[in-house]
Amino acid sequence: MTISLPCFLLFASLLVITRAHNTDQNFNAIFSFGNSLADPGNFIRLARGVLPYDVFEHLPYGVTYFGQPTGRASDGRLVIDFIAQDQDFPLIPPYLSQGQNFSKGVNFAVIGAPALSLDFFQQRNITGFLPVDTSLNVQLGWFEQLKPLLCNTTQSCQDYFSKCLFVLGEFGGNDYNLALFSGKSVSEAKSYIPVVIDTIRQAAESLLKQGALHIVIPGNFPTGCIPILLTIFASKNKLDYDNLGCLKEYNTIGFDHDTKLKEMVAQLQNTYPQAKISYADYYEPVIQFLQNPMKFGFTVNDPLQICCGGGGPYNYNPNATCGQPGVPACSNPLSYVNWDGIHLTEAAYRIIATGWLKGPYAYPPILSGYH
Ligand SMILES: *[C@@H]1O[C@H](CO)[C@@H](O)[C@H](O)[C@H]1NC(C)=O
Ligand SMILES: *[C@@H]1O[C@H](CO)[C@@H](O)[C@H](O)[C@H]1NC(C)=O
Ligand SMILES: *[C@@H]1O[C@H](CO)[C@@H](O)[C@H](O)[C@H]1NC(C)=O
Ligand SMILES: *[C@@H]1O[C@H](CO)[C@@H](O)[C@H](O)[C@H]1NC(C)=O
Repeated sequence: MTISLPCFLLFASLLVITRAHNTDQNFNAIFSFGNSLADPGNFIRLARGVLPYDVFEHLPYGVTYFGQPTGRASDGRLVIDFIAQDQDFPLIPPYLSQGQNFSKGVNFAVIGAPALSLDFFQQRNITGFLPVDTSLNVQLGWFEQLKPLLCNTTQSCQDYFSKCLFVLGEFGGNDYNLALFSGKSVSEAKSYIPVVIDTIRQAAESLLKQGALHIVIPGNFPTGCIPILLTIFASKNKLDYDNLGCLKEYNTIGFDHDTKLKEMVAQLQNTYPQAKISYADYYEPVIQFLQNPMKFGFTVNDPLQICCGGGGPYNYNPNATCGQPGVPACSNPLSYVNWDGIHLTEAAYRIIATGWLKGPYAYPPILSGYH
């Protein structure tokens, strides 16, 4: 994204245009909402004193990049971290870290956060990861509370937010997983898709009305390729699996969600033509990693095998999960797609981030129109 100096001097005649565009591509700040795919440390702060033992506060979480746990659910950086670094920003701090410098943005994402409220799940006897509401609207409320620190008047906020990047998600994965883990059927989980999509749409519209012009809305993973689900919902019937070893029926959850999400994003883009609203794909890159792992540098024999876990067919053992005492990690996380049974490795997130920034995994790519 940065123009190298010799190139800059060589094409001196393009100086004016280049500088104008170069200014455009640098955002004022980045605001992130979401769940474990984006949380840089909010969950561990909420969980202190609530959970007796929080795996995310323990190595080997964080081992690759930070050398210590940060609350990120991976061995290293997440997609949002790579986006911040592409902008030459510091890593965007978690909202719940008091005394942090929010001048380049704030990250409101919380591990386990669903799109829908705690009430929605309690009414259905579905229990969350924490007895605390961390859903999308709660995160938007945090954003509202913080706003006076960022800008004072409607107009100054519009101006400020128009030059910020908003990453809204991924949301939905936890809504469906919480249902499945509580024994609900796939069709019940899928019945939440319309209300999940509508909740994401309302959040995006709220940001657009406050002046946002750059919004990225990520979709879901291929649900049936998640090693935790492959372990819990293992089937003896070979016909239940596709040629990648994923559970076909479960994959339809992520697929149907993403289809509806893309439609919603297209409608929103029509309604707000002055804004740039990108659909960002987690589904297709994960499928590609599983189809052709070597092409992406994933040299592990079976790309569904996870790096950090206590044994079992996918190395995911619900009784010995990553971060628990004595549970080992592989020595080469770079060679693995999946870190702990649900979250990806830093290596996988890096490839996805590049695909969101420059293509082909975001529509349109975050940096498109700025070169
Ligand atoms: C906050 O961060 C910005 C940009 O990273 C920096 O310019 C500024 O000096 C920092 N402020 C404080 C109080 O550290
Ligand atoms: C939730 O659980 C309670 C107590 O077991 C039961 O009475 C109720 O019918 C359940 N509700 C739903 C929606 O499953
Ligand atoms: C908000 O207003 C106060 C007083 O008018 C000013 O000192 C402060 O810098 C403003 N904050 C922002 C973020 O513009
Ligand atoms: C986990 O522990 C439970 C209860 O102790 C046991 O029934 C189950 O078989 C264990 N699962 C695995 C995969 O070891």
